[in-house]
Amino acid sequence: MASAITGSGLWVPEASISNEELVTSHQRTVALWNARHAAEIEAGRAEARDASTDAWIVRASGIRSRYVVEKSGVLDPERLRPHLPRRGEHELGIQAEIGVAAAREALARAGRSGADVDAVLVACSNLQRPYPAVAIEVQHALGARGFAYDLNVACSSATFGIQAAADAIAAGHARCALVLSPELTSGHNNFALREFHFIFGDACTAVLLEPTASARAGAFEVLSTRLQTRFSNNIRNDFGFLNPCEDEARAPEELLFRQNGRQVFREVCPLVSEQILEHLKDEGLAPGELKRLWLHQANLGMNELIARTVLGREPKPGEAPVILDEFANTSSAGSVIAFHRYHDDLAPGDLGVLCSFGAGYSIGSVLVRRLG
Ligand code: COA
Repeated sequence: MASAITGSGLWVPEASISNEELVTSHQRTVALWNARHAAEIEAGRAEARDASTDAWIVRASGIRSRYVVEKSGVLDPERLRPHLPRRGEHELGIQAEIGVAAAREALARAGRSGADVDAVLVACSNLQRPYPAVAIEVQHALGARGFAYDLNVACSSATFGIQAAADAIAAGHARCALVLSPELTSGHNNFALREFHFIFGDACTAVLLEPTASARAGAFEVLSTRLQTRFSNNIRNDFGFLNPCEDEARAPEELLFRQNGRQVFREVCPLVSEQILEHLKDEGLAPGELKRLWLHQANLGMNELIARTVLGREPKPGEAPVILDEFANTSSAGSVIAFHRYHDDLAPGDLGVLCSFGAGYSIGSVLVRRLG
């Protein structure tokens, strides 16, 4: 049974941080670090750290600001992570809370309520605990039926979740499936190092999938999905439950996001454009038929290169919408934010591709066509 995206939703934190604010905090962070390590630097046992600049961030990435769940902790050089008051076991957790907010918007747009939902997938890069699943907490809060589970495929989690939801509908295991991506990346970002501090922002997205036969007018039929993974150490985060069991302590950098960004850029761009082109070909579609590319939002240069390679020409304004200037990299939520913000103008029959890529490596593409 074919399925369609009948609604999408977005939760955006109230607080945002401009590059200027972030760089000011980073300059203070670096000054502190260098002062505290002055003796080691002097003795040649450590290297002095350099401060970040706004001009470099914009030139290298296209990022100008990011939203964060809590700002003062992130900008405090002695802390560099958000303040999140611990919640009791009977209170809704923070990831479930933002998941419910995004889900309610997707449900409203689809004309559905929580009671209609029979599958909830929380698909994101970082989960606040192993169990009970955040998805089951959301299911409970929404009054949804059926089943719920969490999955993590880093930046590609949302598209992997969409395929899982579409498969569940095709197999008759679900009729109304929510895929939520509550990305609180400010908890895993390394705000101390200039090569990483600017990259991420927080947001949560939701997409609702239902059988095409019962989808509302204007929904987006999922024509087909494609997933690919290839092992790489170029994006890594070694935070995990076995850390305390390891006899040798790890460097703090290893327990946060880290990447070799230049290699990622070089290796992932061709893989992504190839995947989209092959995916279209196997569906008997030509790149020229694509009206929109909702790409993962990590780097403006990457998105321009991928769009150019797929389309075989310079993309026209709006063909591959950019949200990373405002949101930075929101991991798996990025391509869905682009979809959520930029789909209303498409006409019935118009074709688009939602595509994510990131750690693993992992790539997911979802071909959709607007229904009349
Ligand atoms: N301010 C000023 N200079 C900086 C800086 C900052 N914030 N961060 C790094 N630099 C310096 C580096 O130290 C380096 O200096 P050097 O040449 O003297 O050694 C120089 O700028 C180039 O650094 P590099 O890391 O090679 O930059 P880059 O051009 O590759 O851009 C990224 C870095 C992260 C923006 C880019 O590689 C990227 O976005 N890659 C794709 C990442 C991606 O998509 N990941 C998916 C993950 S979810």
